[in-house]
Amino acid sequence: MHLEDCRIIELPKIEDSRGNLTFVESFNHIPFEIKRVYYLYDVPSGVERGGHGHKELEQLMVAISGSFDVSVNDGQNTRIFQLNRPFFGLYIPKSMWRHLHNFSSGAVCLNLASDFYKESDYYRDFTEYQKIRKSLV
Ligand code: TYD
Repeated sequence: MHLEDCRIIELPKIEDSRGNLTFVESFNHIPFEIKRVYYLYDVPSGVERGGHGHKELEQLMVAISGSFDVSVNDGQNTRIFQLNRPFFGLYIPKSMWRHLHNFSSGAVCLNLASDFYKESDYYRDFTEYQKIRKSLV
């Protein structure tokens, strides 16, 4: 997978005088089946999250409230995405390293993931990750 495969996906937004509604369907809006949902919230100012890679996991990240930045790295290059709308999701394919930073006050990061939580799917060491990425090319 390449850094160019990371992309912002615009999700449906049903506007209504009662408020807006956004939804996500597996294989319709995102290219994987959702097996897990988790969210980050009450993130203190100045704190970074992430700082790891995944072997097989695919994800969609959405700022359902507030904003934050996501830096995605393929072992060589970095792309930075700002998420600040509940109807834009960042698709992260497998084999990417990521950092989440610049969380606004009250930010909530919703994550839709292609698999259950498995520590064995993580790369926790960046140098190790870089070596493995090089060997994959
Ligand atoms: P981690 O993925 O490292 O957090 P970050 O969002 O900063 O990348 O996970 C933090 C801790 O939470 C770690 O001990 C693993 C645990 N965890 C679960 O038990 N289930 C999950 O679905 C996730 C995402 C994390």
